[in-house]
Amino acid sequence: MKYEAVIFDLDGVICFTDHYHYLAWKALADSLNTPFDESKNDRLRGVSRMDSLEIVLEEYQGPALSQEEKVALATKKNDLYRTYLQSMSPADLSDEVRSTLNALRAKGLKLAIGSSSKNTPLILERLGLGGFFDAVSDGNNITRSKPDPQVFTMAAEMLNLAPEKCLVVEDAEAGIQAACAGKFDSAGLGPASQYEKTTYPMKTFADLLSVTDGTKI
Ligand code: BG6
Ligand code: MG
Repeated sequence: MKYEAVIFDLDGVICFTDHYHYLAWKALADSLNTPFDESKNDRLRGVSRMDSLEIVLEEYQGPALSQEEKVALATKKNDLYRTYLQSMSPADLSDEVRSTLNALRAKGLKLAIGSSSKNTPLILERLGLGGFFDAVSDGNNITRSKPDPQVFTMAAEMLNLAPEKCLVVEDAEAGIQAACAGKFDSAGLGPASQYEKTTYPMKTFADLLSVTDGTKI
């Protein structure tokens, strides 16, 4: 086998939280009288919470906000987002993702998470995946967010493996850039299947069964 481990991004790869992020950012933007739509929401994929806030505030015309006020706004968004996450359950994990994860593990691969989200532990628990992964590197253990490779580098360190032995699975441009910067090969889903830097463009999650052998789809 070409790889010994797979490091998965969470949002947009294992599960779909985009709409919850959208609803929570939209409520915050409305309260600040600043426009926010789905296309702006798409730009937040893989981007940290505070960097996302800066994008949400791009067209904001109200009084200048201090760093403290910005942190309070991000917290307000996150509180609302977490109430939406409470409605997630193991039924939000697709059969395809569940069976592919099990098949990859049966092939002897280590499985890890590499996500910018500080809500990773809650999301994994809601999906019934708490304790499933061999390593979890997320927004809580990093100081630099994607496109910096830190979250993936730390996942590889937790697994005690070199980057060349780990395949990163991503849906976001920032995530593919992070994988590339950390010298990881990458498998891209959705928008990330289109990026030039993506090693293996994929059509569907189950393509990982051949991609982990080094086969191009
Ligand atoms: C990423 C999402 O996984 O996590 C981004 O794609 C999000 O949209 C980022 O901003 C940070 O998430 P959180 O849960 O820490 O606010
Ligand atoms: Mg993602």
